[in-house]
Amino acid sequence: MTAVDVVVMAAGKGTRMKSRTAKVLHRLGGRPLIQHVMDTAQALQARRTIVITGHGAEEVEAWLRASAAAAGRPSPDFVRQEPQLGTGHAVQQVVPVLPDDGIALILNGDVPLIRPETLRALLERCGGQRLALLTVEMADPAGYGRIVRQGEAVRAIVEHKDASEAQRAIREVYTGFMAVPAKKLKAWLARLTNDNAQGEYYLTDIVKFAVADGCEVVTSPASEQVEVDGVNSPLQLADLERAFQRRQARALMEQGVRLADPARFDLRGRLACGQDVEIDVNCVFEGEVTLGDNVRIGPNCVIANASIGPGVVIQACTHIDGEKQGVQVGEGARIGPFARLRPGAQLGAEVHIGNFVEVKNSTLARGAKANHLAYLGDATVGERVNYGAGSITANYDGVNKHHTVIEADVRVGSNCVLVAPVTVAKGGTIGAGSVISKDTPPDALTVARAKQVSLTGWQRPKKQPK
Ligand code: UD1
Ligand code: CA
Repeated sequence: MTAVDVVVMAAGKGTRMKSRTAKVLHRLGGRPLIQHVMDTAQALQARRTIVITGHGAEEVEAWLRASAAAAGRPSPDFVRQEPQLGTGHAVQQVVPVLPDDGIALILNGDVPLIRPETLRALLERCGGQRLALLTVEMADPAGYGRIVRQGEAVRAIVEHKDASEAQRAIREVYTGFMAVPAKKLKAWLARLTNDNAQGEYYLTDIVKFAVADGCEVVTSPASEQVEVDGVNSPLQLADLERAFQRRQARALMEQGVRLADPARFDLRGRLACGQDVEIDVNCVFEGEVTLGDNVRIGPNCVIANASIGPGVVIQACTHIDGEKQGVQVGEGARIGPFARLRPGAQLGAEVHIGNFVEVKNSTLARGAKANHLAYLGDATVGERVNYGAGSITANYDGVNKHHTVIEADVRVGSNCVLVAPVTVAKGGTIGAGSVISKDTPPDALTVARAKQVSLTGWQRPKKQPK
């Protein structure tokens, strides 16, 4: 097997995006366009990957270096193309760093949905010998390079602007992807000229050199249009986003996940699901999310970087984001509606978190409940604790965060403030409205609020007549 060296073209400007961000860094499914292409290249086990940058080069290179480092992979190589004189000129910049003995696989940084299987088929067609072009039949081929054949044999690619009327009628077009023996590619690149309608160096002109040299030129079809569609505008980006989400939704449903409506489902990361998982409409999943068997997710939830145990029910409009620390929800827990779980929330089995309850960096043991309007931050909460409506841990003194311990079977009444660091010992009860700033003993009722007084014979003030 001949080694494969991937070349990713990513120097173009993307004028129609009308954005300050480099085009290939715009996100699809939560990842930059070019990251999709890099991940696909990774799946092909290429020997090296060389990225051609130009517009926004520093930004693009910085992103790709950081992302490779985060994944524990070597950084791709970069070559700069400045100014941008066409696709042929772009690939000419790669010549000094491209080994002679491999197949060069040319990809586009702004075509994110290309599939590894399609590229494998293209590489197979090349076979280390031939010039292999990925092609597609288009109902409206305007703007694309046409595949000009004589009989079966490919003779040339003619760019739309250079094509005759007869050539413009051809619906078989070049997609921008090719696989070519590197040594031959280099020889052909050296012969490119820019005497054409756009005054550019066209990569596609190498086809006629291949034909002249007696090198076989072959084609390989893309399996569907979206996998070769590029992103040039916000509209095209949104169209591809939907196509990508449909692809992901379909894969999940094939595994048995029941999506109430695959058109109202968004996954911007990875979602691993057990059996009999149900997801209602308008949910967004980000980062790494795991859902155990029999999990049910209500409508309008956002769930990021979290591991949700079996049988958990997450009700409508719940927001969960574990960020780097993660969130864990134990078996059979009930969360929401309108709950918020933040990084480091670790909920045991059968925990209940109700509406307008926020949990951050806290461990709740089996069966603990906080059902209404509460905050638990930097706390350790024991089994069966009942945490009353409106209660909060005052975990921050303005400089440092402090820890609160609430031991098993404690009942915290409504509207309490637990001023950390503080421990409420097991079985204790905290009276409603208490501000607790000292540790409390086990099994006692602790009340820390002004005593109630009633004054008899007291008169309401009266309005004086004028
Ligand atoms: C190119 C092909 C055309 C094909 C079409 C498919 C050529 C001459 N034409 O057309 O046959 O049908 O793609 O989409 O190759 N780029 C650079 N440097 C440059 C110019 C472009 O890096 O100087 C990059 C762009 O960022 C992009 C890719 O090359 O990723 C393709 O460029 P684009 O301008 O879209 O090519 P087209 O002229 O549309
Ligand atoms: Ca294009």
